[in-house]
Amino acid sequence: MTTTVFKGGRIIDQMGERSGDVVVDDDTGAISQVGPDLSADRVIDVAGCVVAPGFVDLHVHLRQPGGEASETIESGSRAAARGGFTAVVAMPNTDPCMDSAAVINEVLAHGRTALCDVKPSGAISIGRDGETLAPMAELAGLGVRMFTDDGTGVQDDLFMRRALEYAGSLKSDDGVPFVLAQHCEVSALSEGGVMHEGEWSSRLGLGGQPSEAEELMVMRDIALSRLTGVRVHFQHLSTAGSVAMVRAAKAGGLPVTAEATPHHFSLTDACCADYDANYKVHPPLRTASDVAAIKVGLADGTIDAIATDHAPHTPDSKERPFDQAPPGMLGLETALAVALDELDMPLTDVLAALSWQPAAIAGLAHRHGRPVEDGNPANLTVIDLDHSWEVSGVSMASRSSNTPFEGRQLRGRVRHTVLDGELVVEDGEATR
Ligand code: DOR
Repeated sequence: MTTTVFKGGRIIDQMGERSGDVVVDDDTGAISQVGPDLSADRVIDVAGCVVAPGFVDLHVHLRQPGGEASETIESGSRAAARGGFTAVVAMPNTDPCMDSAAVINEVLAHGRTALCDVKPSGAISIGRDGETLAPMAELAGLGVRMFTDDGTGVQDDLFMRRALEYAGSLKSDDGVPFVLAQHCEVSALSEGGVMHEGEWSSRLGLGGQPSEAEELMVMRDIALSRLTGVRVHFQHLSTAGSVAMVRAAKAGGLPVTAEATPHHFSLTDACCADYDANYKVHPPLRTASDVAAIKVGLADGTIDAIATDHAPHTPDSKERPFDQAPPGMLGLETALAVALDELDMPLTDVLAALSWQPAAIAGLAHRHGRPVEDGNPANLTVIDLDHSWEVSGVSMASRSSNTPFEGRQLRGRVRHTVLDGELVVEDGEATR
């Protein structure tokens, strides 16, 4: 039996803040003791650091199967662990996509040796084509709790209604509810657009995607959630209008939740001025007023979760001209520090948006984002709030290096990550 004590940290979770030592047991994978002056086989000094429940990312692209040149489940999980995440939800736009038991089983099998829990999402439609429902009940039987066609939104209104009704009729054996998550983008409006449609797209001569491409689908899905009574989770919200509609829907008692990415609350379309494809992403970087609205949405609880939309792409592909490069940016290793840098929110609220709130949305609250108390699974992150560091894509654990924060000086870094009692990141480096 190996026990480890994290000594002298500030514990912050949904119960509030307190000081105390935390003992984790490698054998049981649980927290065995929390309190003053504890001892264990191994002592790790975390004085001055925050000890918090591990983070949960509702939105990562791990690229396996099919896109292993840019990321694998192993490399993506290593990046996640270095970012403080103990669980991630893998998006289905792999090749083949996650619309069958075979592919879900393959992802689960690779996930067993990963450095964080890897929860595959299931596609809503076969081939993510928005035409034929995927075998959701079968995928649910394998443990899938989130369904999404991410990468594209479900275009057809009636198909989305049927998908919600089907998801609403599913029963999970563990009582954890299912959620349909939507990438809101009306493709008839976004087609041909490679950045936000506005002043900058005109100046740069690039095709734009108007805010309305996102907002019309947010509006429709709020209406369909009202019609069916089924939960909808809005992925990577990027516009002020979307935030306002979700705020009103929540005030009206609808079962909707939402996430926002660090890049959407820190970067604007002006970043595209030099045609650097590292700033190309879907939904696109918007205007300063959209960024401000996302921040307000996070601060007032309209947006429940910070999700990275970690989207690795090879250097070759990102070196193509802006309009031909694939959209997407890395996020796992910079999420915490960008959030701490950009958000004017109490630390507990930032941690809530990174940990226990997304854990609840993903149906993972029995294992992740739990209070730092004895008996709970030892899925933890230890943060050094004062650590200053410079972002470097090539130094990341990801197989790709397409960070939009290259060269940026950030403050706050994950020092240790504990997965089921195992120290998977020690002093900022993965241990295996
Ligand atoms: O920028 C994006 N990249 N948005 C998406 O919806 C998909 C993602 C990817 O898979 O690269």
